[in-house]
Amino acid sequence: MQRINIAVFASGDGSNFENLVNYFSGSAVARVALLVCNKPEAYALERARRLGVDASVVTKAELQQPELVLPLMRKYNIGFVVLAGFLPLMPNYMIDAFPQRMVNIHPSLLPKFGGKGMWGHHVHEAVKAAGETETGMTVHWVTPQCDGGTIIAQRRVALLPEDTADDIAHKEHLLEMEHFPKIIEELLLRCGD
Ligand code: GRF
Repeated sequence: MQRINIAVFASGDGSNFENLVNYFSGSAVARVALLVCNKPEAYALERARRLGVDASVVTKAELQQPELVLPLMRKYNIGFVVLAGFLPLMPNYMIDAFPQRMVNIHPSLLPKFGGKGMWGHHVHEAVKAAGETETGMTVHWVTPQCDGGTIIAQRRVALLPEDTADDIAHKEHLLEMEHFPKIIEELLLRCGD
């Protein structure tokens, strides 16, 4: 099986990006070849510089231009796309270009706490306000609907009544760090079948 080049799309901190770079470093299955970021000030870009991974800033407006983004994907021979904290909706031409080859991670147990406006701390605050006894992470295929694609995998963690929204965010983040790379690796091994 040929090693698959992954492009990670991120808008902010990029902790999942870094975790994926480290997980796949030296892997025969895949490597993170490119970070695409829509925000020039995002910390994810700093991580890319430090890790020696190529990065490209593609603004929300530029994302609408297939003639700009598709050649970038070809240049890096991208075979799989990971959205990790990427806020703009992915345009249809990209979804069509990566059928069953583009996943998103969402910090709740979808379909709960998903959809427009449900990102980052908004999700964890909503989980707290709803008095949930558990939360978790969801990996799903990307479709034109926000947080709407078929669910691939979920991992869950119990919550205590005294957990704050920050505690909930922390517990959920630990799940992402532990499980997201492994879930992607399993998918990639299936892609290669
Ligand atoms: C993660 O919680 C992910 O589930 C969500 O956005 C966050 C991204 O965090 N989609 P980071 O930028 O990878 O640190």
